[in-house]
Amino acid sequence: MKTVVHEIAPDLFRLSLYFGKADLQFNHFLFLDEEPLLYHAGLRSFFPLVRKGVAEVMDPARLRWIGFSHFEADECGALNEWLETAPGALPVCGVIAAAINISDHADRRPRVLADGEVLTTGRRRFRLLETPQVPHGWDASLLFEETGKILLCSDLFLHQGNVEAVFDGDLLERARETHRRFEGGPLHGAFPATPLAPPTLERLAGLDPKGLALMHGSYYTGDCRTALQGLAGALGLTP
Ligand SMILES: [Fe+2]
Ligand SMILES: [Fe+2]
Repeated sequence: MKTVVHEIAPDLFRLSLYFGKADLQFNHFLFLDEEPLLYHAGLRSFFPLVRKGVAEVMDPARLRWIGFSHFEADECGALNEWLETAPGALPVCGVIAAAINISDHADRRPRVLADGEVLTTGRRRFRLLETPQVPHGWDASLLFEETGKILLCSDLFLHQGNVEAVFDGDLLERARETHRRFEGGPLHGAFPATPLAPPTLERLAGLDPKGLALMHGSYYTGDCRTALQGLAGALGLTP
């Protein structure tokens, strides 16, 4: 396995590993700025590979922020490895994540953002949105990079395949197709239908993103608002 690095927008790099056994990509997003931010620390077992990918772009020791959505190995398994690599780096997360997991788990205390609070990294602004149970997990949050209007959307729109880095086609169909394949298997139920899903997705659509940075699948540059509005219906997330 190797990390495939694409500059998907100016100073935004997608670091992708394809795990054939699950027919799934694992993507990490590196934003260059005065204070560089990596979104998705990634699996601990992938750390040497992702680190190599970061090193193609910048000195990994200069990372300043490590962001992620929820407490799960592919989101933040390698968090402490990054904190060791980059002495000036801190985790950045929401209030619930900090309270129930990260303040204890991480080797350095996180920068905690309240719902709607902004982290400025230079010319970029990252707004945190608490999104409990979306995509899953009580502690879930997402970051919205306001300068480029990019939503870091974690597992939302998850789709299988060793797909292209950037895509503007039918994202909902891809997500629906993978969801169908998961039915009846161990991954069925990965995205819970709770009363929180429809209003949360509607709130995300209201941001009117220009890009959706998916952990699993292509970076999406199509009609993001419509895709977000259609996701609850496509995956049956309306309770
Ligand atoms: Fe997840
Ligand atoms: Fe994931």
